[in-house]
Amino acid sequence: VTFFEETTMDPRIARRDWLKLLLGAGGAGLLVRFGAGCGYYSADGGPAFAPWDFPGGETLPEMIAARAALLATNPHNTQPWALHITASQIDLHADFSRNLGTMDSLLREMHIGLGCAVTNMVIAARASGRTPTVSLLPDPSDASLVASVALAPAAPIDDPLFGVIARRHTNRGRYADAPAADALRATLESLVTEPGIKLHLFTDGADMAIFRQGTVDATNAIIADADMSRDTNAWYRQSADDILQHRDGITIDCSGSGASVVFLSKVTGRPSDQTANSYWLAATQGAQTTGSAFGILSSSSQNARADQLRVGQVYQAMHLWAVSQGLAMQPLNQMAERQDREETQGLPPQSTSLLGQLIGSTNRRAQMLFRIGYPWDDANASPRRPIDWVLQ
Ligand SMILES: Cc1cc2nc3c(=O)[nH]c(=O)nc-3n(C[C@H](O)[C@H](O)[C@H](O)COP(=O)(O)O)c2cc1C
Repeated sequence: VTFFEETTMDPRIARRDWLKLLLGAGGAGLLVRFGAGCGYYSADGGPAFAPWDFPGGETLPEMIAARAALLATNPHNTQPWALHITASQIDLHADFSRNLGTMDSLLREMHIGLGCAVTNMVIAARASGRTPTVSLLPDPSDASLVASVALAPAAPIDDPLFGVIARRHTNRGRYADAPAADALRATLESLVTEPGIKLHLFTDGADMAIFRQGTVDATNAIIADADMSRDTNAWYRQSADDILQHRDGITIDCSGSGASVVFLSKVTGRPSDQTANSYWLAATQGAQTTGSAFGILSSSSQNARADQLRVGQVYQAMHLWAVSQGLAMQPLNQMAERQDREETQGLPPQSTSLLGQLIGSTNRRAQMLFRIGYPWDDANASPRRPIDWVLQ
C-alpha cells in the first residue's frame, strides 16, 4: 500500500543535503575553534534521554507499561502526569502544576497528552503479557485521576507498534510536499476507534492553504499576546544544564532547525523571547507547514475531559502508525490554543470561526491539529523525566 502518490524527488532536497554537509563541516570547524567549553552539547546524550532506552532491561509488565507512558506525545513536553503503579493496575493522574498557563487555559492540551500516555500503556501492556482494561475518569470526585488501566495476565501480543514507541518523535523539520493518496485517509480513519471523535483530513491545495494561513495568523496572535508568549517560552530549555535539571520542555535539538542553526544557538546562548518568537513564526511560515496533509481531530461535545483523553488516545495511535510507515507528524495547535484563549478572554472569535469552517460544524470542537508527511530528516528525542520522578 502506498500512502502518497508517486512523485519525483525535488532537486532542492539534494542541493539542501550538500548545503547541510558544507555547513556541518563549517560548524565542526567552528566547534573545534570556539565551541569547546562554550555550551555545545550532543542532541540526546545523558540521563535526560535515558528513558528512551525502552524497554531497556525492564521485565515487569506493569513497569514496561508505565515506562511507555513517559514516552508519549504531550504538550510542550510538560509531561503532566503522575503514576500509581501496582502489579494489577496503573492509575494515571494529571499533575495540574505542570500546565501551560494561558497557552492551555482550558487544560485541553494537558488532557490530550494524558490520553496519548494511555495508548502507549495499552500497547506496551499487551506486548508484555497483560490485557489492559481502560477506565477513563473512574472517580467523579477526583478530577486528577484521569484513567485507571487494569492489567490481567494474558499471552503477549506481537504488535509492531510496541517497537515504535521509543522511535516516535515529533518532527518539526521540512516534509516532502508529495500529494496524499486515498489509502492515507482510509488508514488514518480506521485508527479513529474512540466514540465521538472524528478526523478531518485536508489534502487538497485550497483547504491546506486555509489551514496554513490560519496557523500563521494564530502564531502571530500568540506572539502578540504577552501572556501567551511568556507562557510558551517558559518551557524552552536552552543549555545542557537546563535540560539535565528539568528533563522536560522544548529544546533546540527538537526544533527542526538545521545543523548550523542548532550549533550557533548552543554556543551563543538563550535567545530573547522576541528572537525565539520570530524564529517560530518563520518556521511556521516555512518548514513547519510543509507536508502531504493537515488534520484535525474533533469531538462531539465542546470540552468534555473524556473526549480530550480520547483524542489523545487516537492521536498517539496515528503517530505510532505513521512512524511505522516512515512518515512523520507534528501537532500544530496554534489555532486551537487561540480558540481557547478567545473563549476565556471573550475575544473576537477569529481562530474559533476558522476552525468551525474547517471542520464544517460549530457543534463539534476542534481539539488536536497536526500535519503529516515524509520527512527530509529524522527527528531527535526530547528529554524525559525518569519513572521515579513521577511516581505517586
Ligand atoms: C495536545 C498537544 C498539543 C501539541 N501542540 C504542538 C504544537 O502546536 N506544535 C508543536 O510543534 N508540537 C506540539 N505538540 C507536540 C509536543 O510539543 C511534543 O509531543 C513534546 O514536546 C514531546 O516531544 P515528542 O513528541 O518528540 O516526544 C503537542 C502535543 C500535544 C499532546
